[in-house]
Amino acid sequence: GEPAPYSPTGRDTGNPPQTRAQDGPYLTTAQGTRLYDTDHSLKAGPRGPVLLQDHHLREKIMHFDHERIPERVVHARGAGAHGVFQAYGTAEGVTRAAFLRKGTETPVFVRFSTVLGSRGSADTVRDTRGFATKFYTEEGVFDLVGNNIPVFFIQDAIKFPDVIHAGKPHPDREIPQAQSAHDTFWDFVSLHTEAQHHTMWNMSDRGIPRSYRTMEGFGVHTFRLVDAKGATTLVKFHWKPKLGVHSQLWEEAQITGGVDPDYHRRDLADAIEAGAYPQWELGIQTFPDTPEQTFEGIDLLDPTKIVPEELAPVQPIGLLTLNRNPSNFFAETEQVAFHVGHLVPGIDVTDDPLLAGRLFSYLDTQITRLAGPNFNQIPINRPHAPVNDMLRDGFHQQAVHSGVAPYKPNSLDGGCPFFAGAGTGAYIETPVEVPAARKVREAPASFDDHFSQPRLFWLSMSPVEREHIITAYTFELGKCYDNAVKQRQLQALANIDTELCARVAEGLGLPAPEPTLPPADVMPSPALSQIGHEWPAD
Ligand code: HEM
Repeated sequence: GEPAPYSPTGRDTGNPPQTRAQDGPYLTTAQGTRLYDTDHSLKAGPRGPVLLQDHHLREKIMHFDHERIPERVVHARGAGAHGVFQAYGTAEGVTRAAFLRKGTETPVFVRFSTVLGSRGSADTVRDTRGFATKFYTEEGVFDLVGNNIPVFFIQDAIKFPDVIHAGKPHPDREIPQAQSAHDTFWDFVSLHTEAQHHTMWNMSDRGIPRSYRTMEGFGVHTFRLVDAKGATTLVKFHWKPKLGVHSQLWEEAQITGGVDPDYHRRDLADAIEAGAYPQWELGIQTFPDTPEQTFEGIDLLDPTKIVPEELAPVQPIGLLTLNRNPSNFFAETEQVAFHVGHLVPGIDVTDDPLLAGRLFSYLDTQITRLAGPNFNQIPINRPHAPVNDMLRDGFHQQAVHSGVAPYKPNSLDGGCPFFAGAGTGAYIETPVEVPAARKVREAPASFDDHFSQPRLFWLSMSPVEREHIITAYTFELGKCYDNAVKQRQLQALANIDTELCARVAEGLGLPAPEPTLPPADVMPSPALSQIGHEWPAD
């Protein structure tokens, strides 16, 4: 009789059959022709020349030669998992997004990542971590493409290539592979002082998480929620891990990175396989959608600023549970394509200039990374909602579209598909006033304060956390070759906190500079000074 069907893993992964690969019990060529041998090339005699007519040999080697695709230009190193998101219903008052209705369960895929290292780099390096979630909602895909740090290095996407060029390995030596310990990184962040806040988070224990399971996640930008009546609320998204936030000590990170560069991806996969499903609560901070788009003096369009939770508490709106490992890393974790522009009705973007650039960048890079415009048809990227678009043809087109008139409306293909009712579909223009303006290449004055929030962060740290921050700056800056770069970074630290600056300067054997800004300029916002008084002082 026929042999039993071949099972690639020997166990039922629970994944739907996605292609007709590995179908049937016989080993075949890509054309479905059965093979009797895959270990020997066709030759003119056992010791004779290999024959070009051996199609199986050519097909096998040709396909292998093209197995690699470009790694992501950033966030190349990552690990993913499937799960489910259960809505509490607590966001129903501010958004009409269907997946946030009480009790709704939505399948998700999450990819965690480091930012700077290449695909084969170690997991435990000091870096920001990506936390990207794809919600396969009944209204289409919603992607929340966040990080484990609530602020970003820059305020305008036009600087993204610059900050990444500064953070990636030096072009001549290709070192260091995945760390912030080098001249160009510190040169950039000391010249562009808006980066000091994000950098301080990196130098804190947040830069070396214990596990993906013990990281927070942040949407960073302010988003705009829209309710059923069209009323709008500004929000920031937060993921809070049920296991709490935990980090490694620097020495631990060196050891775990050395003995197991896969430390974080192993931890995630092992936990899920053991049934210890990691969970996060999704929460929102909400702010009135005023024309100024500020809250307590903080510009909500500035992605280098947080809104302290004391001023705007995080309100839980749902629970994420990761409960299934990918069955194929390449098909799922490598080919997944997130995009901040994948929005559903009830969730909209704001005019944060960093977000605007991201709306262009992800789609653009994925056309190269995934070879053409049809990567939304790759199984991991397919919406679970019905798709009826007017996109046609292109490389790797999988759909066989029917009809003769690929435009709407038309009188030949049976008329129009239905349109969502006014105000119920996605990408409606929420009627937000745009002030009369002239074209400029400049940032608003409200983006000028670069030091009050790093200072706030520093003042909120416990004594042991401060020691970790001091040793991290000292170690990382100690790896710079250029003393002028170190001195410029010390100047930025002096403007954040003189004790922090003095301790790092001492460790580097350099003089500690005086602050160039008076303390009043370092903490100008009344709301922030208030928080500073409540939190532990030096
Ligand atoms: C990839 C987050 C800013 C361009 C990613 C990923 C995350 C992320 C989590 C990995 C996605 C994955 O797992 O596949 C963020 C956050 C940002 C930010 C939180 C700031 C708040 C930017 C900016 C740009 C950018 C400003 C460009 C202007 C990219 C690109 C990728 C990427 C090109 C690779 C995408 C791919 O190849 O699929 N980002 N990013 N990011 N990001 Fe960002």
